[in-house]
Order: sequence, then structure tokens, then C-alpha cells
Amino acid sequence: MSLQERDLKALWHPCSQMKDYESFPPIEITSAKGSLLHSSGGDIIDIISSWWCKSLGHGHPEILSSVKAQMDKFEHVILANTTNTLIVDLCEKILKACPSYDKVFFCDSGSDSVEVAMKMSLQYHLQTGNSNRKKFLSLQNGYHGETILTLAAGDCGLYGAPFASLMPQIDKIEELPYVNSESNDLETSWAKIEPFLDKNAKSLAGIVIEPILQGAGGMLIYDPKLLVRLEKWCNENGVHLIADEILTGMGRLGYARACEAVNVKPHFSVFSKGLTAGFSPLACVLTTDDIYEVFYDEYESGKAFMHSNTYCGNAIGAAAAVAAFKVYEEEKTFERVRQDSYLLDDSLKEVGEATGFLHNYRSMGFVAAADIKPEIVEGSDTKRLGYKVYQEAVKNGLLLRPLGNTIYLLPPLNTPKELITKSTSIIIDTMKSVLK
Ligand SMILES: Cc1ncc(COP(=O)(O)O)c(C=O)c1O
Repeated sequence: MSLQERDLKALWHPCSQMKDYESFPPIEITSAKGSLLHSSGGDIIDIISSWWCKSLGHGHPEILSSVKAQMDKFEHVILANTTNTLIVDLCEKILKACPSYDKVFFCDSGSDSVEVAMKMSLQYHLQTGNSNRKKFLSLQNGYHGETILTLAAGDCGLYGAPFASLMPQIDKIEELPYVNSESNDLETSWAKIEPFLDKNAKSLAGIVIEPILQGAGGMLIYDPKLLVRLEKWCNENGVHLIADEILTGMGRLGYARACEAVNVKPHFSVFSKGLTAGFSPLACVLTTDDIYEVFYDEYESGKAFMHSNTYCGNAIGAAAAVAAFKVYEEEKTFERVRQDSYLLDDSLKEVGEATGFLHNYRSMGFVAAADIKPEIVEGSDTKRLGYKVYQEAVKNGLLLRPLGNTIYLLPPLNTPKELITKSTSIIIDTMKSVLK
């Protein structure tokens, strides 16, 4: 039996219609290095950082050696009742990179860490005599993960729809000042948002946001100054601001926290993906001492935060994360992302100029996106344009994963310029052949 046949027989792939693999089998990866995936069919540029997490590419030597060295000591030990130098080093590194915070709480996955921040917020309000503060709001087009609570906080219908009956109601803040929309004016937008917030002010525990860039909702970028308004409103109304920095943090937008771009300090910030440079699952929630202290008391008070995940703070992830921070510091990665940001923006604009197929360009840090023009979509004889583009690009040596009709580039932060140039020409050829 071929690998593909064995795969189809035994494996249920994530976020996939399995039937698709019968006509277009999954790519067989044999090894990966830097921004390249080596496959049985040749090299493929990983322009999406393997679901947005491989911020320093595959097999980064410093991270590999840190992980290998840790494996010789121990790979995982329960984090309740124990400590170790590695995990404390990591906390200190994270807090140095995010100086507005005092405490780090570790989790296994991104979804889990967003839930942790929401649970902390709710319990905080309960323990400070505000049991009326039970509701959360989040942003239209947001994405926060795949657990029931994070699906409810998200606004990507496809992922949550079958589970709607289980999901708590989390209303969405609409009218965001998106950079590509006609209603991109912050004042007009805020004039509609503020009364909606005021209406909910007394019952709100927190507002969950992806700062500046909304990933799975379509790689949308909104005016960062909205964050300043939200922070001010939250502080004036005793509501927590919860920043999901899983995609945007750790350099993706050129800062440790995207909120840094506008000097906003949410009550909670949540990280995963780039935290370990995508080496292994690890996530964390950062918060401040004044929130932490509300949970600090005699055991009998019942005020402790009793959340646990088996692998939280696991040593493999921690070793990867400590090494990733070292590389970020030594190579000044975040600063370089800010300087080189134009590369991706230029790349998609070049595709647009060469093909005439794209519009709505947006970019920040090491992310750039654009949409296939509606007239091109309507004129096409294929319904799943994004999927067609993916198929053709893979054959040409590029791993794209369009979101509907949105094409985006989100490569490892240290991707060499030549590979971005090569990706640009592959996208041009791909789009010309798919969209003819
Ligand atoms: C903004 C954001 N939040 C949460 C998540 C969920 O993280 P995980 O897949 O690790 O659960 C993702 C994953 O893509 C994300 O982009």
C-alpha cells in the first residue's frame, strides 16, 4: 500500500474535507529546514509558517540544540508542586519582553490559553464582589480557537456553526475601522461602537480581541488606534481587555506584543505559536499582580485558580521557547521584521500588477494579504478558487492556504529575500494558470 493509501485508511486530518484527499493527496514531507519543506515531490516554500507558528523556520539549530540538551535532563514533569531553572528562566524572559506584566500562567494550546484568560477574568469579578459581570464581548470576524468557549468568542461561522447549541452567547462588536473598507474612519466607527459598549458596561467581565490583525477571519487589519479607545473604555468601566496575541505576538507584527505598537496594555495577553517558534505546543497568559492578588489567599478561601493542563509548562516547549527568545534578541528579529515589512507588501502588489487579479492590499510586520477581485471570482468556472490556487501553488513549489478568496503571505520571520522573490513569481504563474 502507498503512504497515501495508508494515510487515507488511518488518518483523519485537521480542518479538512477528507474526500478532497482522494483526488489531491496530502503532501508527503520527508524533512524541513528553514523556510523549506522537503517533500517526496520536491522542495516547497512554507510561506504560511505551518499554520503561522514557525516564526524562525524549521529546524533552527539553536532551538534544536536547546531541546536536545533538555531531553537528556527531563522531558516533562508536573508543573504543580515542582519548579525548575528552565521554566523560571522562561518566565523572566517573557516578562522582560512584555514589561507591563508581572505573572505568567502556562497552558498547552492557544485555544486553551484564551479560555484561561476568560476564566481568570470571570473568577476575578466573582472574587471582587462583581458577580453580575458574567458577559464577554468580542470583535466581528475574530478567531480565538476551537474549544466551545473560544468558538463562541470567535466569529468564523464555518468552524462554530455545528456547535452553536452548546455555545454561550458572546455578542460581537461591529463596525470596525478596517483599513480596506469604506468605513475605515475611527471616529465614525467609535461613534457606533461606544453606545453598544455602554449598553453592556455593567454586565461585562471582559472584551476579547485579536489586536490589529484578525487572522482566520480573513487576514483583516483594523486601525490600531481602536485599541487605544477600547483600553480607555475598559479601564473607565472596570472591564478587562483580553488580547489574543497568539498570531500577532512574538514578532509577527514587529513587536513582542502587537498592542505595543500603540502602547496599549491589556489586563491579559495570551501567547502561543511564536512563543516556542512553533517547535512544540506551549501557550501562556500574562497578567498583572493586582489581578493575581485577587486569587492569593489561604487555601480554604477557595480563591485559587484551579485550571490545569497535563503538559502546561512542559520542558520541551520551555527549552524551545528559551532558545527562541535568545534568537529573537540576538538577531533583533522583531526590529528586522519592522524594517523588512515592505518585502511582503511589495510581493503581493507585484502579483496584483502582473495579473490584475488582486485588490484590498493590507500588510503589517511579516504578514501581507489581498483579495481576489470579485469580478474575477464571478467570472471563474470554479467555485473553490482558493483551494484551486492552493493545489496549483503546491505543484509549483509553494505552500499557500488561502482563506476563501484571500491570498496571504505569512512566512517565517527570517525567510531569505530570494525565497520571497521566488514565491512572488510562483504566485503569479499559479494565479495566471488557475484564473486564466
Ligand atoms: C488568534 C488565534 N487565537 C487562537 C488560536 C488557537 O490556537 P491553537 O490552535 O493553538 O489552539 C489561533 C490559531 O490559529 C489563532 O490564530
